[in-house]
Amino acid sequence: MNSAKTIFEKSKPGHIAYSLPKIDVEAKSADEILPKHLLADSDVNLPELSEGEVVRHFTELSTKSHGVDSGFYPLGSCTMKYNVKVNEDIAQISNFANLHPHMPEGASQGALELQYNLQQQLAEITGMDAITLQPVAGAHGELTGIMLIDAYHKNKGNNKKTILVPDSAHGTNPATASMVGYDVVQVSSNERGLVDINSLKEALNDDVAALMLTNPNTLGLFEEDILEIAELVHEVGGLLYYDGANTNAIMGISRPGDMGFDVVHLNLHKTFGTPHGGGGPGSGPVGVKEELVEFMPTPTVIKENGQFKLDYNRPKTIGKVHSFYGNFGVNLRAYSYILALGGEGLKQVSEDAVLNANYLMERLKKHFTLPFDRVCMHEFVLSGKDLKDYGVKTLDIAKGLLDYGYHPPTVYFPLIVEEALMVEPTETESKQTLDNFADAMGELVEISKNNNEQVLTAPHTTVVGRLDEASAARKPVVVHEE
Ligand SMILES: Cc1ncc(COP(=O)(O)O)c(C=O)c1O
Repeated sequence: MNSAKTIFEKSKPGHIAYSLPKIDVEAKSADEILPKHLLADSDVNLPELSEGEVVRHFTELSTKSHGVDSGFYPLGSCTMKYNVKVNEDIAQISNFANLHPHMPEGASQGALELQYNLQQQLAEITGMDAITLQPVAGAHGELTGIMLIDAYHKNKGNNKKTILVPDSAHGTNPATASMVGYDVVQVSSNERGLVDINSLKEALNDDVAALMLTNPNTLGLFEEDILEIAELVHEVGGLLYYDGANTNAIMGISRPGDMGFDVVHLNLHKTFGTPHGGGGPGSGPVGVKEELVEFMPTPTVIKENGQFKLDYNRPKTIGKVHSFYGNFGVNLRAYSYILALGGEGLKQVSEDAVLNANYLMERLKKHFTLPFDRVCMHEFVLSGKDLKDYGVKTLDIAKGLLDYGYHPPTVYFPLIVEEALMVEPTETESKQTLDNFADAMGELVEISKNNNEQVLTAPHTTVVGRLDEASAARKPVVVHEE
């Protein structure tokens, strides 16, 4: 077990991490200044450390978790790519970082222009007519998008009750549909890993408000029948929703708007230059086709007579979905990323992401079952089912990878692949990294077959060993135990 002490255990009475000049006015105690009900009954137990001790404590902690900046992170569907640091510098420019959201429009023209331009760029990248930057996560974008679809149908007097979701979908899709009040009906995948057109036809009727789809889908495969799918959904008066979590595969190559999608969300924190994970700020802009523009959240940024303005004049809006105008800092990083790369650069990103995934897939299919053995897009899904004969599961392989210094791929998703391992290498990794990872995976498979104990008890080199994951999430032990 980890020998690191908690900050409370390191505390020594009298150690302080600040120094202030000697007070030169009459000192008052807290109960002379603050209302009584705001004062704590007893002393607050805060740790006491010197500045150096605090810095060492947190620096030490920061080295104990795995991040994109410390190593390869092929967590499928999450696009854990290296984020260039210049974006961080730009986000810290004080004119941006210190801008208060209540500043008058006249004094924040630069920030409004930036958001206006980003709306235009994302509309072009996705092929949509208008974009809102307000939602702050992918799932939040989904919620906003399905609320827009709901408003669209209600405005037409339609009382549709169903949303279709493929069996390969990310869990947030059915959860979102259900939160907005829809019944969720599942559409099966076919033997090629794509939406089964017959299953779709069976599920389609006048009650269907929308089909939610990821393209490429969560198996990393491009839905080749997308134009027919769009036509079928539109024929019954339904709309097509694009979960844009996988946009890293298609930038500058194909656009959801051209595929027939009516509403789109993007994850700027995956595809467009913001570090992702750890619950940090994200951005899930939503794009719509013309017939849904009137329902978009307010305010949107518009340009009028050469001035940038926040427009609240949208009588049929679904309302606000977030305070102010979303996560400005994340939108700023995306703007910087898009400007730095340009159209050709973004296309190159997607081409390299797809190339890396196909290279790694070819190397790994020698060691694992590849259920859908076709050219993949930016990610692919392996199955570890054959290792069950040796008493080893996908979870054991994931834990074993930690000993090689890699973050494991996504495991047990999508649900339709037994013992799934979903690998997304991203465009920012070198051939050397991919080869090393493939070698490690191959070695783990060999170890599993010959001496499975080593894999079953992994990890051995990390700060903590194998945890009961459910208990670790629900009852985290945050105090030090010898
Ligand atoms: C396919 C897919 N859809 C939606 C989401 C939700 O995005 P977020 O985590 O930003 O809410 C994810 C997240 O990983 C995803 O992979």
